[in-house]
Amino acid sequence: MFFKIGKILTLALALGALVIAKTVHPSAFTASKAVDVAAISSASEKVKQVPAHATYPISVEGHKDKSTIHSDWASFAEGAAFVFKADMDTDCDGVNFKCDGNADGQPLTNWGALSAFEVPYIVIPQEFLDANPTAISGNNVAAVICNNKMFYAILGDTNGNNRQVTGEASWLLARSCFPEENLSGNRGHDEIDVTYILFIGPEAVLPPSAINERYITDFGKLRSMGNHLTASLMKNLSIKPLGGSGSSPPKDDGLHDGNNDDIPTLPDVPQENGDGPNDNLGGAGPGPHDDDIDSAASDVAAPEIMALFVAVLVLVVCI
Ligand SMILES: *[C@@H]1O[C@H](CO)[C@@H](O)[C@H](O)[C@H]1NC(C)=O
Ligand SMILES: *[C@@H]1O[C@H](CO)[C@@H](O)[C@H](O)[C@H]1NC(C)=O
Repeated sequence: MFFKIGKILTLALALGALVIAKTVHPSAFTASKAVDVAAISSASEKVKQVPAHATYPISVEGHKDKSTIHSDWASFAEGAAFVFKADMDTDCDGVNFKCDGNADGQPLTNWGALSAFEVPYIVIPQEFLDANPTAISGNNVAAVICNNKMFYAILGDTNGNNRQVTGEASWLLARSCFPEENLSGNRGHDEIDVTYILFIGPEAVLPPSAINERYITDFGKLRSMGNHLTASLMKNLSIKPLGGSGSSPPKDDGLHDGNNDDIPTLPDVPQENGDGPNDNLGGAGPGPHDDDIDSAASDVAAPEIMALFVAVLVLVVCI
């Protein structure tokens, strides 16, 4: 009897440890199902206002293609943001700077030494940051539309290369956006089809209680801030939240709940499939297999919730 309980306990603990050690799942920073990603994307095609220092090449070599940051949404009372469309290079600056293909990596990011394997962050040209110190103070929440999905991220780093290029995201975010493309330090997503929405002003900054020098410590906060800012932006753009279909309409717009709008379920046990980073700490890992934003969002909850679930399971089994 005790032997059996011991065995189950060991198994459960191992499973729990695996879950905790697991990489950050993209669902931890996926936008709410109520966000009308297609409508925001199409609204972003219509922007026109160009602030100072707004145009940058998207790559160092093929410097023909440029991307321009727009400020049409920057004066909104709530959900104010800069928006631009670009490609997505993969950045590993910060503690994981030795990632595959990142020969020129740097151990620090702008406001710390973020883990590119565990933090979804975006990178903007240093020159644009310098031109907008009040609007952009660092760790601003961003919404990134890629591959018909929308993820939340923070502004984590700037590009200060001699040719300042634009369109860059952390390893985790890049691989979450394009799980099929095996992106790495020297392999980015080249098509100019990623929309970056950088929320501005003090109310758009992820607070120190949710982030430390290396990691986001509270993904629920990132997600609830992202959903709130996006809801405000949508309101201003006259875009209605998507309601649930079928027999049970949602009680509210579902945009202010953080993780609460999704019922957590236990995920598949993560597989070490060998294409993650060397230190086994991160990588986007195998995300949901389809590109459906809904299932991505409802698939799984934060690792802590899973760990809690396992702990409760252990208790129930043992009592
Ligand atoms: C969006 O916000 C701006 C400034 O706050 C305002 O001028 C504009 O009318 C708003 N647009 C809509 C559609 O609410
Ligand atoms: C992914 O890229 C890495 C190099 O960054 C390479 O070693 C690996 O073989 C690639 N995997 C696949 C499945 O292409």
